[in-house]
Amino acid sequence: MASAQSIRSAIRDIPNFPQPGIVFRDITPVLADPGLFKDSITLLCDTAGGTAIDKIVGIDARGFIFAAAVADRLGAGFVPVRKKGKLPWNTRGLSYTLEYGEAEVEIHEDAVNPGEKVLLVDDLLATGGTASAAVQLLDGLGADLVAVSFLIELNGLSGRDKLGDHRIESIVQYE
Ligand code: PRP
Ligand code: ADE
Repeated sequence: MASAQSIRSAIRDIPNFPQPGIVFRDITPVLADPGLFKDSITLLCDTAGGTAIDKIVGIDARGFIFAAAVADRLGAGFVPVRKKGKLPWNTRGLSYTLEYGEAEVEIHEDAVNPGEKVLLVDDLLATGGTASAAVQLLDGLGADLVAVSFLIELNGLSGRDKLGDHRIESIVQYE
């Protein structure tokens, strides 16, 4: 079992992408390593703390990679939160800002039933704009949000402060 430190060592820093001043934390070397990818999923599964989860919600697009694998491992359903205009049924949406731009995400209005136990998974927490929008959509559907879990958290951007009282978990942190 790889440690969080070995996962961190594989994350590649790309300065000035996609904009000047941003240090992009590139997870593709973690994904390409079968052991590190598997252990990333194990560590994210552990953030459920043993609670039986009905639905894993993943955020478009990098979040899907982790969330779908976590759903499979935990025997839960998978629900996508997608960028605007991609979901075919009735949706609820919210616009937000993120570290390098702005966007809008949507969820199907029947994707989660009130009271269902949900784990929200994304690859990275930066300013928290993206995750906050997803959390608000899930709160609006009456989900019982067990935790919000990230592979990476950029502590300096204080994203967790935007996520209210929900339990926030991350595997690898940067200052
Ligand atoms: C990235 C990342 C998170 C978000 C974090 O997504 O996957 O979802 O930014 O930033 P924030 O905390 O400042 O909101 P991005 O919108 O770049 O989409 P992608 O997954 O399609 O690359
Ligand atoms: N999403 C938001 N900020 C990011 C960063 N610094 N690296 C990778 N993905 C991000």
